[in-house]
Amino acid sequence: MITTDITKAVKILQDGGLVAMPTETVYGLGADATNENAIKHIFRVKERPYDHPLIVHLASLDQVAEWAREFTPMAEQLAKAFWPGPLTLILKKQPQVLDVVTGGQDTIGLRIPSHPVALALLRAFGGGIAAPSANKFTHISPTTALAVEEELGDRIDLIIDGGDCTVGLESTIIDVTGDQPVILRPGMITAEAIAQVLQSSVTSSYESHQAATRVPGMHHLHYAPTTLTYVMSSDEIPDFLQTAKKPLALLTHTNIALPESDQIHRLQLLNEPNAYAHDLYRSLRELDKQHYQCIIVEAVPSMPEWDAIRDRLNKASARNLINK
Ligand code: TXA
Ligand code: MG
Repeated sequence: MITTDITKAVKILQDGGLVAMPTETVYGLGADATNENAIKHIFRVKERPYDHPLIVHLASLDQVAEWAREFTPMAEQLAKAFWPGPLTLILKKQPQVLDVVTGGQDTIGLRIPSHPVALALLRAFGGGIAAPSANKFTHISPTTALAVEEELGDRIDLIIDGGDCTVGLESTIIDVTGDQPVILRPGMITAEAIAQVLQSSVTSSYESHQAATRVPGMHHLHYAPTTLTYVMSSDEIPDFLQTAKKPLALLTHTNIALPESDQIHRLQLLNEPNAYAHDLYRSLRELDKQHYQCIIVEAVPSMPEWDAIRDRLNKASARNLINK
């Protein structure tokens, strides 16, 4: 059921139920982070393996100490600069944090989201809400209440409608448990923005574009449409179109000239990373529903502000690297 009733959502969370909630990045599937059965239910509903830990969402900085046993100066600087917002900090956990939340690790991912509805829910609930993206494992994250309904509607108690997610891609995840900060998942808060706040360099441990396209076996399918999805440069697209099975979909962001055909459904996104990120998942979902032979996505620029988008496109197309 889709609603805007926060009081009802709080009651469901208190009773150990699951509530899908909007955040500025993507919709999350929330449960009381201290309720082991509720957390286990999240994994069942998503069909997600237990070794993929969950992010715990909080309303304010003064709750951090309940979950993390260390809040280093580096973590504090990042929290002050980017919270509430699309950044997840990996910190050393407090001993009482459930293993099922952290995948048995000694660390926990924490985030204060900026979406007003998420904050209202978190404040009204009062505790931490564990919430992965509200999609089945490996699928595309939902960025509207309707997309959550399509993904999980028959499996969960309530969906809170908070409109379109403004960011559209999942948060940047940064591990700040060591001496050097390490980005585990790129997001729209870039490595450069983080380096500027910390006045130090930041490394990344996710697969680079080069590695992702050249070493198929290393790839992990994630964030993927069910339709075969290819990412290719604007130079490669015309040749590919000649021999490809049709009808097909084409997701571009530049004005490359291509033959008009009723067998080719072209969707053009804006050539600017924030606007592109905002529309990407909704567009992929729409195209995926049409059951095209394939979806071709024009490769995005290799500039840092496109890093998160490039990462998600590589993952969305991982299934096909071997065939390409
Ligand atoms: O924007 C987001 O981060 C959204 C919204 C709902 O907040 N959430 C989200 O959650 O994308 P999820 O579960 O789909 O992705 C969280 C990622 C997983 O890949 C998980 O492995 C990683 O965060 N993660 C969580 N806790 C971790 C930890 N302690 N150490 C390393 N990685 C962790
Ligand atoms: Mg996810």
